[in-house]
Amino acid sequence: MAEPKKNRDSFGSKIGIVAAAAGSAVGLGNIYRFPCEAGNNGGGAFLIVYLIVVLVLGIPAMLSEFVIGRSAQANPVGSFKKLAPKTAWPIVGYLGVICGFIILSFYSTVSGWTLEYIVKSVANDFHGKDLAAIEQDFADFHNMGWKNVLWQAIFIFLTGFVVFKGVQNGIEKYAKILMPVLLLILVVLGVRSLTLPGAKEGLTFLFNPDFSKITGKVLINALGQAFFSLSVGMGAMITYGSYIQKNDNLTTTALSVTLADTLIAILAGIVIFPAAFSFGIRPEAGTGLVFNTLPLIFNQITGGYFFCIIFFVLLAVAALTSTISLLEVVVAYFVEELHMTRKGATVVACVANMALGVFASLSLKTGTSIQIAGLPLFGALDFFSSNILLPLGGLLIVLFVGWFMGKKRFYKEVTNEGEVKLHVKGVILFIIRFIAPVAIAIIFVSGLVK
Ligand code: PFF
Repeated sequence: MAEPKKNRDSFGSKIGIVAAAAGSAVGLGNIYRFPCEAGNNGGGAFLIVYLIVVLVLGIPAMLSEFVIGRSAQANPVGSFKKLAPKTAWPIVGYLGVICGFIILSFYSTVSGWTLEYIVKSVANDFHGKDLAAIEQDFADFHNMGWKNVLWQAIFIFLTGFVVFKGVQNGIEKYAKILMPVLLLILVVLGVRSLTLPGAKEGLTFLFNPDFSKITGKVLINALGQAFFSLSVGMGAMITYGSYIQKNDNLTTTALSVTLADTLIAILAGIVIFPAAFSFGIRPEAGTGLVFNTLPLIFNQITGGYFFCIIFFVLLAVAALTSTISLLEVVVAYFVEELHMTRKGATVVACVANMALGVFASLSLKTGTSIQIAGLPLFGALDFFSSNILLPLGGLLIVLFVGWFMGKKRFYKEVTNEGEVKLHVKGVILFIIRFIAPVAIAIIFVSGLVK
């Protein structure tokens, strides 16, 4: 068993932890993936299920990860080795590292698009274009495979650079300043979107649930989206939890991160759907939904040129604070378990990730043969990691905290050895022990059967 280094990094201030964990949670998952999933799964019906899943399963899972990480003070694999020596539990940690690696390989594809869209917006490329022209540009960009790959490589390089610099100098500093600005610009966009002609239909789509649309597929997609968006189920929050100081309150941290994450996802929905309906973009448009709708909104805003640039810069930053946490899981494992230097670990992880990521990007070309089970590799990796590995990881994590760690150790960690008064700790433990595992298992099985 590898002993964690004595001088492990930790987050300097309370706002630093919340900002970094929220930085991991808030990303393309909220602004790009949430509208896509909601659009494909019935809008309001999806939103309701999503919110319930976040509340009942997401928060307990995130808290469980913090509990594991802070009590073990190690990466996901090391944490399980330390808390459950000579058992099979470290497999959960390995699954997490693999899942982080897979998510990063396709997440960096979409992250790369944000860079392309920064360049396009600086060049005023969207100006005066209608929906057909903007959709054509998006398709052309995919079909120019090398350009996707180049942006993806640049994005992975940027991520590696921040991760290499370490926790305090890197992650915390960047996350703290920029996330609130992103929130602000989403509010401005939301106001514009809501005042477009025909916006009401989009609002109805998002907020007026048709309960008959709730199927096994919607349940598993909502579960996958919730875990993806909250960054839980693969040990990212175990890793970040290991950097949280002993006197910080884990429960309020989990609540604040979840609140910020959910708020941004709903705001993204309020920006995208009214505008999409107004411009005649179908909610099931998939990858193009967000990237085609946004430029059209900017074309309708006074000062849209500048807003557009700022928005895509912030979207890239939001993606970066998420890719950092994905890469950090892999790097922390390499450093602490395989005893690599931080620099070596970062280089190896980035190069290996790019090797898989290239194929994810190229699989989006029209008529691609890079497919698994009839899905382009990009979609297959997304489905496998979000809808299978994350729920499985989340299930095992709550089982571990609820049943293996047990009541005494759980209470000790969430109350900071009695310092924090947490009156609902019994309720939380009950959810972690009974409700969360049963619900995740049911949704998981019902989704897989489909
Ligand atoms: N939560 C991120 C998002 O919503 O964009 C994606 C993500 C980051 C998933 C880190 C998982 C993770 F460990």
